[in-house]
Amino acid sequence: MSSHNAPTRKDFPADFRWGVSTSSFQIEGAGREDGKGESIWDRFCQQPGRIRDGSNGRVACDHYHLWPQDLDMAKGLGVNAYRFSIAWPRILPQGRGTVNEAGLAFYDRLVDGMLARGLDPWCTLYHWDLPQALQEQGGWVSRDTVGAFLEYTDIVTRRLGDRVKHWITHNEPWCSCMMGYWENIHAPGGSSLADAMQACHHVLLSHGQAIPLIRKNSAGAQVGITLSLHPITAASSSAEDLAALKRHDGLRNRWFLDPLFGRGYPADTLELIGDAAPTVLPGDLDAIATATDFLGVNYYFPEMVKDDPAGGPMRASLVEKEGVERTGFGWEVSPQGLVDLLTRLQRDYNPPVIQLTENGSTFEDVLTPEGCVHDAERLSYLQRHLAALKRAIDAGVPVKGYFAWSLLDNFEWAEGYLRRFGIAYVDYATQKRTLKDSGLWYGRFLNE
Ligand code: FCB
Repeated sequence: MSSHNAPTRKDFPADFRWGVSTSSFQIEGAGREDGKGESIWDRFCQQPGRIRDGSNGRVACDHYHLWPQDLDMAKGLGVNAYRFSIAWPRILPQGRGTVNEAGLAFYDRLVDGMLARGLDPWCTLYHWDLPQALQEQGGWVSRDTVGAFLEYTDIVTRRLGDRVKHWITHNEPWCSCMMGYWENIHAPGGSSLADAMQACHHVLLSHGQAIPLIRKNSAGAQVGITLSLHPITAASSSAEDLAALKRHDGLRNRWFLDPLFGRGYPADTLELIGDAAPTVLPGDLDAIATATDFLGVNYYFPEMVKDDPAGGPMRASLVEKEGVERTGFGWEVSPQGLVDLLTRLQRDYNPPVIQLTENGSTFEDVLTPEGCVHDAERLSYLQRHLAALKRAIDAGVPVKGYFAWSLLDNFEWAEGYLRRFGIAYVDYATQKRTLKDSGLWYGRFLNE
């Protein structure tokens, strides 16, 4: 460690993956170009009141056209891996059936562009932009969507599997299912816990069933799934609060981890959700438990909970900690939370490899007249989380890669363009990118 406690690259293993993370809907734009079909996010953005600034993804960062300069910037930073996702409706505008060659050709160019710049492509198959046509038939609540996902996965991995050797089936099922079908915050916008649980089961099933297909089409590939996970503490040491912690952890974390690691759905959570439990057919749990090569973890913030009889099916509610540091989103800044989460994952699940597929922060950024963004808070967030990551690795947690969220400011879902997470600032009027101080530091760190 340097005297300022900022980690250096040499503190990490030589073969560590250093990357940046992005997703299709958040940066690509070109919403209906070259035959792309409508996604649930295109539709959601049209509904008044859904997106805080009334915006949409039609142009976003125009990455669909500006990708060469974006990849140049990533290369300039010195990262050796680049995480991106595929927009399913570009490949299959109706969700299944007719293939749109222009969509495949775009990702062909993008992947070749990465390889030409020495960037290892890390491809997420599903980062939330489901074809609207599938939503019309029930979306992830319908078991047919599992079959459609396999069809889509087969097409994409047959085309790109010779060059892409890292695949992430799904990004954060909590968000796509719970926030989408139950909490009514994300597309498609629903308020049914039962729908969310069924959707979640189908997402996990589609993950498990896709693994052998990906391995068949992409020789030697590493395959995993990315979860959003949270370290959780109780508001007090009372038996009630500790029991609330366990209940909340059941839905938030164990609901995903337990079946992926072969334990089926947690019995305590199943009991608490009662009638909202998903229909699970024979063989489903075996498929979900198919071994992966890594567990992808997205870490943003810890949670604190207390016992609360009115706190939903888990009878727990979140407690706002007083006096803690927070990002512009209000999320607590807790580098130690990352250590706690990673050591817990190793202790309770012992995954062969963990990849930190997202970590980052949003603050009010200002582009100065001199063309600088002095994002001291994001820079400090990044440095302290890397220092925490090193502590976790030193403690024996097998983390092999870190991907900063995100390369660019982008469309932050229901928050629209109000939340900037990039290490590069995007002026949406001109599409000019400017590395922020955090991005400049990441580049220096990587080139040390
Ligand atoms: C994660 C999402 C990513 C981005 C960050 C801030 O939950 O995976 O797309 O929105 O949060």
